Amino acid sequence: MSFYVTTPIYYVNAAPHLGHAYTTIAADVMARHHRQRGEEVFFLTGTDEHGEPVADAAHALGIEPQELADRNAERFKALAPQLEVSNDFFIRTTDPQHEAKVQEVLSRVRENGFVYMGTYEGWYCPRCADFKADSEIDEGNRCPIHHIELTREQEDNYFFRLSAFQERLEELYAEREDWVAPRTRYNEALSFIRSGLRDVPLTRHKLTWGVPVPWDEEHVFYVWFDALLNYYSALSYAPSPEGVPAGSDLTATFWPANHHLIAKDILRFHTVYWPALLMAAELELPEHIFVHGYLLMEGEKMSKSLGNVLDPFAVIERFGADALRFYLMRDVPFGQDGSVSTTSFELRYESELANELGNLASRTIAMIAQFRQGTVPPGEVDPVLAEDFTGLPARVAGHIDRAELTLALDEIWQRVRRLNRYVEEQAPWRLAKDDSRGEDLDSVLRSLAEGLRAVTVLLWPYLPSSAERLLGALGASDLSLASAELGAGAIERVSPIDSLFPKDTQPAAS
Ligand code: MSP
Repeated sequence: MSFYVTTPIYYVNAAPHLGHAYTTIAADVMARHHRQRGEEVFFLTGTDEHGEPVADAAHALGIEPQELADRNAERFKALAPQLEVSNDFFIRTTDPQHEAKVQEVLSRVRENGFVYMGTYEGWYCPRCADFKADSEIDEGNRCPIHHIELTREQEDNYFFRLSAFQERLEELYAEREDWVAPRTRYNEALSFIRSGLRDVPLTRHKLTWGVPVPWDEEHVFYVWFDALLNYYSALSYAPSPEGVPAGSDLTATFWPANHHLIAKDILRFHTVYWPALLMAAELELPEHIFVHGYLLMEGEKMSKSLGNVLDPFAVIERFGADALRFYLMRDVPFGQDGSVSTTSFELRYESELANELGNLASRTIAMIAQFRQGTVPPGEVDPVLAEDFTGLPARVAGHIDRAELTLALDEIWQRVRRLNRYVEEQAPWRLAKDDSRGEDLDSVLRSLAEGLRAVTVLLWPYLPSSAERLLGALGASDLSLASAELGAGAIERVSPIDSLFPKDTQPAAS
């Protein structure tokens, strides 16, 4: 089995912010989970470096686009390890191998008869690098996303015959109802298609910052076609990920992608242009596109250009990457918009990470140390508890297969709470005072240790470093999904552990 997941490639016109971190974390949760299933996994992220968004930002700074791209690509690259993100490759669209692949695929699209010369006239947002249909324009000729005034463009370009795919796209949507999720996004994409597809520019005449068009050197490819192809091109030159023999044909192993994760701002490109382009190039289509919502601050989409950015680096510095990952996956239902704030972050951190999981771990380990000198009594898990864990790994896997990352986390978290209730119900400290209840105490301690181990294995994709530390203290290193079954592990001894989520973290000095 193989599993291939992608994030959008981010524009290097500005530094990364929490919105970018969000999608990347989500993709990481999926990648890690599939590695737990023993699958061959390829997880791709990277940067989109061509086109007006980057060229304009560079010129505003008085530098060349390549210089800005180099500078910001480094920052995006550096963000991944800070978020504990385990991407297998980082693609930059200025990689020469990517550029060559773009030229190869788009030449094929032309040979297949889907490219012609025409004149484009219409409204354009240079921040989106998007030609806007009349129905997509805000009052005062403004971009609904960036709120800037649109420019009127008229240029002779090569066009992609998107209209030729009207019927095939409608068929695709009819045959594969789960190809775009959530359902509202599927409906949105389908209604855009049904409203009638118009051909779109494939190249830009006016721009020079892009991949040169091989059959006409006066043009570069329109940045979106260059960018979308990253998902395919990366496989032609990335090194093999862990677990896949070096030198393997990654395209054969991983194409088509299983999941593209995106936010709704780039829905049309991924759900309409992208499948049409792949059809035109005779390539297989990805299995799923999952469209998550926006992280909002004060009701506005967080974005660098709007200046309402919550700095992920500051959060990580104070609370650690795991806390940020947990907060984003837990607080904002994946697939919907959600407001984020430092207040709600701190609330989740304290009430759930510190009080529910952190205390469960420290209490369990402390009681085993105190009552049984750190040795976990062997035997079966208490059936009362086991009942509430039956089928849990499969349920979590089912949610993650549908990119329902918040639902999956909630399934797990209910068991964290169940374990805390179990402690209260059984009151091991009372059992410890009664010599005749020794076996009951053994059973409770063992069940707690095993329950904690099982939930921790399931939490690993969300909280990788805390989970590893905790499993280390439990002497249980198996991270496989199979080992998340209650009773699958046999903990012998536990060792002391420092607080997983300390409450006395100091605000970062500003
Ligand atoms: N370069 C294009 C994508 C090309 S993909 C072939 C682009 N780049 S971007 O830098 O603007 O990134 C957009 C993506 O960043 C969104 O689709 C989403 O994944 C993520 N997000 C950026 N801001 C976000 C929020 N405020 N909330 C949620 N996701 C956010 O578009």
